[in-house]
Amino acid sequence: MDKLRVGFIGAGRISDLHAIEYLKNERAELVAVCDTDPNTAQSRAAAWGVPSNRVFTNYQDLLALKEVDLVEILTPHHLHRQITLDAAAAGKHISLQKPMALNVAEADEMIAATKKAGVIFKVFENFIFYPPVMRAKALIEAGEIGEPLTIRIKSNAANSPNSWPIPRTAQTWRFDTAKSGGGPLVFDDGHHKFSLAWYFMDGIADEVHAWIGSLEAPLGGEVGLIDSPAIVSWKFPRNRFGSLEVVYSPDMIVDTNHYAQDDRIEITGTKGVIWVTRGHGKMMDVAPVVMYKDMKTFTFSDMPVGWEHSFINSTRHFIDAYFKGEAPRLTGEQGRDILRFALAAQESARTGQSVRL
Ligand SMILES: NC(=O)c1ccc[n+]([C@@H]2O[C@H](COP(=O)([O-])OP(=O)(O)OC[C@H]3O[C@@H](n4cnc5c(N)ncnc54)[C@H](O)[C@@H]3O)[C@@H](O)[C@H]2O)c1
Repeated sequence: MDKLRVGFIGAGRISDLHAIEYLKNERAELVAVCDTDPNTAQSRAAAWGVPSNRVFTNYQDLLALKEVDLVEILTPHHLHRQITLDAAAAGKHISLQKPMALNVAEADEMIAATKKAGVIFKVFENFIFYPPVMRAKALIEAGEIGEPLTIRIKSNAANSPNSWPIPRTAQTWRFDTAKSGGGPLVFDDGHHKFSLAWYFMDGIADEVHAWIGSLEAPLGGEVGLIDSPAIVSWKFPRNRFGSLEVVYSPDMIVDTNHYAQDDRIEITGTKGVIWVTRGHGKMMDVAPVVMYKDMKTFTFSDMPVGWEHSFINSTRHFIDAYFKGEAPRLTGEQGRDILRFALAAQESARTGQSVRL
């Protein structure tokens, strides 16, 4: 059977969740690993069964391998552009972590280069593949709450004794906006929240306003400026609205297996309301999906809720799309639209004015 052969460029914190489905799916094979840190590259390769002659510290060596069909790019944001351009020039299909670039001009250049090279370009987004999110979307598509009118997203960042270990280096570049492009909560993680809004409301907003606070706080063992608290609000075409509230609570403890964070979503339609009650972690002891309509509350618990399932589903979707010749989700253009929105929110916070997209 034909297999999709994958090389990882960047094997840091998040790469193990990317590897899960490639290691399990019989139509894929993880064949090469590159990380500039040789210990990281070697230990990941050993864990994933990649032979030592397929482990690199220079990604050009990995791109030179004929047997690599697709690269997963999992590096700090300021490197996304150049690695994508080089991978396209080498004829590799590309799955690139969000946010795809530091600005829209870079994103356009990357889209043009991948089109010219005739390679698939996916911007990796997992939150829209989180099983409770997929269930909520299916309920909406079945007409259960009527036409969605508003979406409200809440993200609590905190601390946790059982969060996963984060290498200090993974936070150093995040606190440097020249490398990350913006704050860790509203720009970096916010990309996921803005993707959720795009997904549930079938398109991007046309106007955004944001207040983004700033405080010095520890994140993964490193102290830096966190973009909290923050409120971003926006307007979709046809009189529909959305908002994101982000807040870091230094003395709150969250139950989680990953980041010390949890998220909730509330979508109000013309005849009901749907809540997704959890995300990274578990703060509320209720069903992961709850729906209100016709004077009744319905709960849905028959789905996996571990955050890792969002990665597994996203990768599985991509492998299916690849073999069917269908477009990935997100496409480069969709990733660019969400980046443009995230940057507009940053601009609004800076200028104190709402920004039209
Ligand atoms: N989807 C999600 O929920 C999610 C969560 C976390 C991170 N991310 C994204 O994943 C990407 C990586 O984040 P992370 O948390 O794993 O960061 P990280 O710092 O833990 O990992 C990045 C790795 O890239 C390596 N690297 C740096 N320059 C390189 C180069 N030129 N060639 C090869 N390797 C290089 C580093 O040594 C490091 O091991 C970022 O784009 C981030 O936004 C997404």
